[in-house]
Amino acid sequence: MTTCLTAPRALGCLAGLLLISVLTTAPTQSVRAQGPDLGTEAQRESGKVLYLQYCSQCHGEKGDGEGYASSHLRPRPRDLTSGKFKIRTTPNGALPTHQDLVNIIRRGMPYTSMPAWPNLSDQEVSDLAYFIKTFSADFANAENVPQPVPLESGPNATNESVELGKRLYEENGCVKCHGTLGRGDGPSAPTLVDDWGHPIRAADLAQRWTFRGGSSREDIFRTMSTGLNGTPMPSFQEALPAEQRWAITDFIASLSPADGPGYENLVVARHVEEAIDLAKGAESFASAPPARFPIVGQIMEPGRSFHPPVTGVTVQAIYDADSIALLLRWHDMSAEKTGTNGPTLPVPTEEEEEPAAGAVAPADGGGSGGDPSANPFGDQEIAEPPAGQVAADPFAEPDTAPASRPSEFSDAVAVQIPSQVPAGSRQPYFIYGDAQNPVDLWFFDLARPDPLQMTGRGSESVEPNDTGDLTGVATYDQGEWSVILKRPLRATSGAAFAQGQFLPVAFSVWDGFSRERGNRRGLTAWYSIYVEPEVVPSAVGPMVQTALFILVIELALIGWVRWRNGSRARTELGDEPSQLTATRA
Ligand code: HEC
Ligand code: HEC
Repeated sequence: MTTCLTAPRALGCLAGLLLISVLTTAPTQSVRAQGPDLGTEAQRESGKVLYLQYCSQCHGEKGDGEGYASSHLRPRPRDLTSGKFKIRTTPNGALPTHQDLVNIIRRGMPYTSMPAWPNLSDQEVSDLAYFIKTFSADFANAENVPQPVPLESGPNATNESVELGKRLYEENGCVKCHGTLGRGDGPSAPTLVDDWGHPIRAADLAQRWTFRGGSSREDIFRTMSTGLNGTPMPSFQEALPAEQRWAITDFIASLSPADGPGYENLVVARHVEEAIDLAKGAESFASAPPARFPIVGQIMEPGRSFHPPVTGVTVQAIYDADSIALLLRWHDMSAEKTGTNGPTLPVPTEEEEEPAAGAVAPADGGGSGGDPSANPFGDQEIAEPPAGQVAADPFAEPDTAPASRPSEFSDAVAVQIPSQVPAGSRQPYFIYGDAQNPVDLWFFDLARPDPLQMTGRGSESVEPNDTGDLTGVATYDQGEWSVILKRPLRATSGAAFAQGQFLPVAFSVWDGFSRERGNRRGLTAWYSIYVEPEVVPSAVGPMVQTALFILVIELALIGWVRWRNGSRARTELGDEPSQLTATRA
């Protein structure tokens, strides 16, 4: 500053001072942001118009979460008057920043009915955020002005940090809710409720693409630091230093691939020499490649479920001389082995989920790989694209602790194949087939010892057709069901499996805890099962032979050409050296 006292530098100095004053306006602005940032009248008005157009059917005109579409949505649309927001950069219990609101509106909340809004302009999203703040008086209170917690980026993950994170995960009680392997099956999981008394699931940390607040390491770190207001998910900002939170983040990130679930559309049935023995369990499937398929809600027919808790099933298949066997695995926070289930059990309309009319497609909200919200049924019209979710589900009386009573509905699974090998590309209707194109169901109520075979000609006509052909075993371990179903390749009923053949296959999963039964279920579209021929004729042997043969001939040819050219050149060189030089030039 002393230089400013010398006259010749006065101009530069003035510029410098101006610069300083410009620089200091930045802090001034943030000082202004220290007061509540409520936007202008015009911004709030514009936000209101947009809100009534896009948001009120779920969140209600008064923002109380009581829109006409809300009663059947799980999780319920947020009561925006509560001032409780899950995804924030601010401390536990605090309000979100304006930017937090903008981000969550823009990205939506994956695996819930809260859509992403990619088509609104930045200004529109910001106006919406300003309008949302009018619902809760807390935003206007100067004492509540949200201050983000420090969320510096962390060191790169190492094997050591993952190991340390695993230990800290256990020591700090994450395991109580999220389970040892992170599958959302901790001992407390079935009893959790949110601040509004609705049952809520601990997230499945082994499927990070389902996280509401995004799946990146930064997102996980933020969630753990700030907690999720309105839910039992605590904040660990105070309890754990940043390095430890990063280590836990690394552990969680190690539980599932960063680029999403990696969905397939084909399961390859591999031949095994030994006769398939159900008692050997999953071990027999070691050689068979796993294929993961997205599960979406059944929303075409009454019994609708928009966000089934099971979001994917992993399938492996093997066959021996006589039989084919499928191993199906999926995550479930608790095994319901009591009660009953069946593909045709009725679902009272009160329990049915309604389509959220007017909502735009929930786009891929945050780094999810496969996009289960894409219409999985090809040409079928879908009212609202299902996104699958890990969310809580309905209970007749949500206030009673659900774990305290035996489940009324058991967990169940079904494999569906056409009853006859379809001619051409025509596939039966994917909801239990149709009159012309019946399907065979291999249905396993997991409260029972044995699976049952059924034939479906549409939802109204699913008949038992048990020939005793089908056998199966089911085990539940640490948040995962493993179910094996085995049937003769050529059975009394249902399409035969032949080597080299593709057959359509689809899957359904019922979560008894969420009262799924009948047509209220998660299901997949049609995919294919390929019976890989027993002796895969190896193309390598003949290919190598041919290549060697060609090589020998080529070498001989090259040798001969060289020898001939060489002898000609020698002759030419000897006879007319000058001509050769001229040609070269
Ligand atoms: C189809 C129903 C639906 C529509 C339409 C909808 N929302 Fe939501 N919204 C939800 C649900 C459900 C949740 C709660 C999800 C949860 O708790 O995991 C939610 C949560 C929110 C939250 C809380 C986010 C947080 O961090 O907790 C905000 C803010 C929000 N919505 C804003 C909007 C705005 C703005 C619109 C319109 C542009 C909108 N929503 C449209 C269903 C909807
Ligand atoms: C008291 C039970 C409980 C404990 C303890 C707990 N969580 Fe959670 N956690 C939850 C619940 C419930 C949710 C899901 C909230 C929702 O669906 O909105 C959740 C969600 C999450 C999510 C996903 C957030 C998202 O964006 O969807 C992560 C990551 C997470 N927890 C990590 C942890 C870690 C790490 C710990 C331990 C340091 C921990 N949790 C301890 C109950 C718990």
